[in-house]
Amino acid sequence: MEQLQNDLFLRACKRLPVERTPIWIMRQAGRYLPEYRAVRAKADFLTMCKTPELAAEVTIQPVDIIGVDAAIIFSDILVIPEAMGMSLQMHEGRGPVFDTPVRTEEQAGKLKKIDPYDDLKYVLDAISLTKKELNGRVPLIGFSGAPWTLLTYMVEGQGSKTFSNVKKLIYNNPELAHKLLDKLTDAVADYLSAQIEAGANAVQIFDTWAGILSPRDYLIFALKYVNQLIDKIKRNDEPIIYFPKGVHYRMRTTADCGADVIGIDWTIDMAKARDKIGSKVAIQGNLDPTVLYAEPGFIRREAKKVLESYGEGSGHIFNLGHGILPDVDPSHAKALVDFVKEKSGKYHTNKQKV
Ligand code: CP3
Repeated sequence: MEQLQNDLFLRACKRLPVERTPIWIMRQAGRYLPEYRAVRAKADFLTMCKTPELAAEVTIQPVDIIGVDAAIIFSDILVIPEAMGMSLQMHEGRGPVFDTPVRTEEQAGKLKKIDPYDDLKYVLDAISLTKKELNGRVPLIGFSGAPWTLLTYMVEGQGSKTFSNVKKLIYNNPELAHKLLDKLTDAVADYLSAQIEAGANAVQIFDTWAGILSPRDYLIFALKYVNQLIDKIKRNDEPIIYFPKGVHYRMRTTADCGADVIGIDWTIDMAKARDKIGSKVAIQGNLDPTVLYAEPGFIRREAKKVLESYGEGSGHIFNLGHGILPDVDPSHAKALVDFVKEKSGKYHTNKQKV
């Protein structure tokens, strides 16, 4: 077995005793870091994703600069639709765009079945290289978009306010929606299994757009496929984190999906989340990302509230409730990480499994 110098994150995922609460930050490898922007000035975003040396370099930056307890491989959720044959453009300021979204049977029929060892080999190579360069300092997290969130992007073609196109699809042609979700579930399962084989110590499933569904549709179009997906992922004991953003009304059912950890956003009270699901799964979150705009004293007070709200014992992975924003001062992110490292020990004096 691999020897990690810092395995706090992995132990907390399994709700095993820890000396202090581990912390990492969603989107921690990104534009708020000048060191990231310096690499990005030399290569466009997709080139960075597809060049293992560059991906490994920016993956490790927040470990060195901010001091987080886990690295997350630099990539994007949209590499799967791209590998299926959709042409992906990254527009400055506008975000990712698929020129030809998938909205008809015919377009869906053209999507190819992916082989991650071939079509997404560059991600697996980036994982192996990053593991080598990390040299056991912290665990490495792999990730994918959840089937529902990937479908949303593929049908909308870009970010959306109303999600009209994907809603038209699920209400007017649910058969096609389910067919696509089935196909995506298989692709994501193969992809995450391959990431684990390449060395990922844990994997996170991002369901960024889960919260645009009604509570009932969330079960039918999002959670059902996450259940199947988790069943299909080949792993030893690598933890799985499921992050369905905006789904506070379905905490209990969500906790039964088979994941070891549920990620929550900042609209849910941490104590309430723990009360509902803390006996089944670990919880990741949930500081409002915009708190990092405030001065460090304020950040520390808000971070303390999150730690206190979770309370005593293991099973908490500190994170933001969504990704770090690109205009955050890196010293503020560092202040947060330092605070959690210095002050969370007192919640772990009684080294019992929760
Ligand atoms: O967490 C990490 O540091 C790992 C890297 C990572 C990126 N994207 C890098 C990225 C991860 C985990 C993602 C996931 C992702 N990508 C999600 C799910 C998480 C979330 O935030 O909800 C989603 C919805 C995407 C799709 C995506 N990719 C969008 C909407 C954008 C544009 C908006 C933005 O933040 O710029 C991207 C581009 C992207 N992905 C960037 C980075 C660092 C910015 C690209 C650049 O440097 O110009």
